Amino acid sequence: MKRLAVLTSGGDAPGMNAAIRAVARKTIYEGRRVFGIRRGFQGLLNGEMDELLVHSVGDIIHRGGTILGTARFPQFVDPAVQQEAAARLRAWGLEGLVVIGGGGSLRGAAALARLGVPVIGVPATIDNDVSGTDYAIGFDTAVNTVLDAINRVRDTATAHGRAFVIETMGRDCGFIALTAGLAGGAEVILIPEVPFDLEQVCRRVTRSRERGKRHSIILVAEGAARGFDVGQAVSDFTGQETRVSVLGYLQRGGTPTAFDRLLASRYGAAAVEWLLAGRSGCMTALVGQSVAPVPLEEAVGEPKRLDTALYRLAMELSI
Ligand code: F6P
Repeated sequence: MKRLAVLTSGGDAPGMNAAIRAVARKTIYEGRRVFGIRRGFQGLLNGEMDELLVHSVGDIIHRGGTILGTARFPQFVDPAVQQEAAARLRAWGLEGLVVIGGGGSLRGAAALARLGVPVIGVPATIDNDVSGTDYAIGFDTAVNTVLDAINRVRDTATAHGRAFVIETMGRDCGFIALTAGLAGGAEVILIPEVPFDLEQVCRRVTRSRERGKRHSIILVAEGAARGFDVGQAVSDFTGQETRVSVLGYLQRGGTPTAFDRLLASRYGAAAVEWLLAGRSGCMTALVGQSVAPVPLEEAVGEPKRLDTALYRLAMELSI
């Protein structure tokens, strides 16, 4: 293999740049050439790419977003589009591809691998909802961003004696809300994986108020309920002054944490190592402390299961 390519796809995640840097530098270190495809699978179809040199990926390890740009490209589920993409890679002499992204992007990577393109996937999504790996790039940074928001909201909530609803991202999963909620000492955590009863939530807020607590923090993943609806219910039912903060896209940006930079560097280098060793159709995964290959088909086959022990712990500690 002499020429590899890398792309970022789907929702951006802090640490994607560190992964691009690792892929580029490791490939060059191994004496091969590397090309950055712009705007994900969409850019691949349009032939948008540049060769990456050592200096092209300088000064990016600390930056959020992705220097390659990204795109959601639902058309890539079409087998004809996938075949076209595989044909283009071959035509340009790109012999191996690293796809950095979340579930949808890794599904695209699996499709290309089925068509015979040597591909390695690198999980990167703040949602951390990719099966087979403990961590996706960007999750740790997003959790710390939410935690910072909880700390700030807690100050003002305590000062005024208010209940606060904080809505986090997580369209289909509650990993961000659960992890940040546990670390931030939230009274209530609402996530899509666990059904809830708003009346019980309100009773919990009232109980903690009666115990003399000055504030209540309710963390809601966007996939579980709308923060404003929960806030209205809490205010109506408890009579407590309630405010709502929807964190939205600020969770996707920002400088990546040390954890995400290290993870991205390890994932990116492993992806190149594996491609050059003839491996394909798998994803870099953090299993315990080690980076291990997990078949892409397995990673995209099933939704990631909630860590029920963590959820139980959050419930036990927020009595
Ligand atoms: O990156 C994952 C995610 O942040 C989800 O939690 C969120 O619902 C979604 O992306 C929104 O992304 P976009 O508006 O870019 O499609």
